[in-house]
Amino acid sequence: MRILAIETSCDETAVAIVENGTKVLTNMIATSRDAFAKTGGVIPEEAARKQLECMLPMLHQALKEAGCTKDDIDAIAVTKGPGLMGSLLIGTVTARTLASIWGKPLIGIHHTMGHLSSTWLDTTEDDQPQFPVLSLSASGGHTELWYRTAHTQGHLLGRTRDDAAGEAFDKGASLMGLPYPGGPSMAKSAESGDDSAFDFPIPLKKEKTLDFSYSGLKTALKYAMRDHPDAKTEDLAASFQKAINVQLLDRFQAALEQYPDAKEVHLVGGVSANQHLRKICAVLPIKLRAPTQIRYCTDNAAMIASAAYFLATEKPETLGEKFETGASIPLTEALSA
Ligand code: KG4
Ligand code: ZN
Repeated sequence: MRILAIETSCDETAVAIVENGTKVLTNMIATSRDAFAKTGGVIPEEAARKQLECMLPMLHQALKEAGCTKDDIDAIAVTKGPGLMGSLLIGTVTARTLASIWGKPLIGIHHTMGHLSSTWLDTTEDDQPQFPVLSLSASGGHTELWYRTAHTQGHLLGRTRDDAAGEAFDKGASLMGLPYPGGPSMAKSAESGDDSAFDFPIPLKKEKTLDFSYSGLKTALKYAMRDHPDAKTEDLAASFQKAINVQLLDRFQAALEQYPDAKEVHLVGGVSANQHLRKICAVLPIKLRAPTQIRYCTDNAAMIASAAYFLATEKPETLGEKFETGASIPLTEALSA
């Protein structure tokens, strides 16, 4: 089954064609992120205008790259939310129109469902992830820990009480004067820093919870910068990155104690691109997986096509089912305990 997917939840215009949820025929992305480096964040109106310009040329290019015509496509998938409403509408209106004129079923996918499927991309038949899986999805918009027994079966173990992990990277980097997006720039700076230079607190470490929190850490960074005006940015970056990542690892360890039957742990979402996080999580006693390529960690359309395939396989009734585009929609619609 070949699915053409469109993802436009934030500032990116992404189009992909994926076979049977794993084989990526093309995965294209155009981003206006560079334009937002100056503003330090996305301007929604501006992002949507750029997406409108990119959408049709990218669809043509994606079909060409994959060597497909509309007759080779079995279904259209699109991110239905959450995200920036103007951006989501560009994607969903395009997908609805395409599905209607091509006569193909349309599948609306929750953005997080896409991230959760990203560890299946480019896997071979004898190296498919095995359920139950403990999945941490950490991005600029959410930080959630899931226990899943199938693609569409599972429950939420913990989520952030304030900022998302990626948002903590972005805000911390901005305080340090590092460019947007903060995750990659802080990771780069941290490479030449001393991660024991500052002893930042690990939020909620003593609490019996699988939730996350970052606001205290941000405040600690502000005080450290005030009290040590000559501190090296590299040291601040390395210490701050360590505090975020150790908390993520700590939650995995606590979750594994509660769910010893888990066969694999998965790191997904933009923050899973972080090499320090991947390195420290290697101590976990079971198989650790992150997306096979960095471009599958950050927002992309291949993961949406993959999620659509598994949703259609496990819940065929959702193929062609009506859905609403929404800036904030609960994931529970697709994943039920
Ligand atoms: O999943 P994603 O592309 O978009 C959202 O759904 O939000 O995640 C973007 C987030 C940003 O906050 C960015 O700073 C963070 O992921 N990120 C990273 C790295 N690359 C991207 N955080 C830490 N280390 C990285 N290497
Ligand atoms: Zn995302």
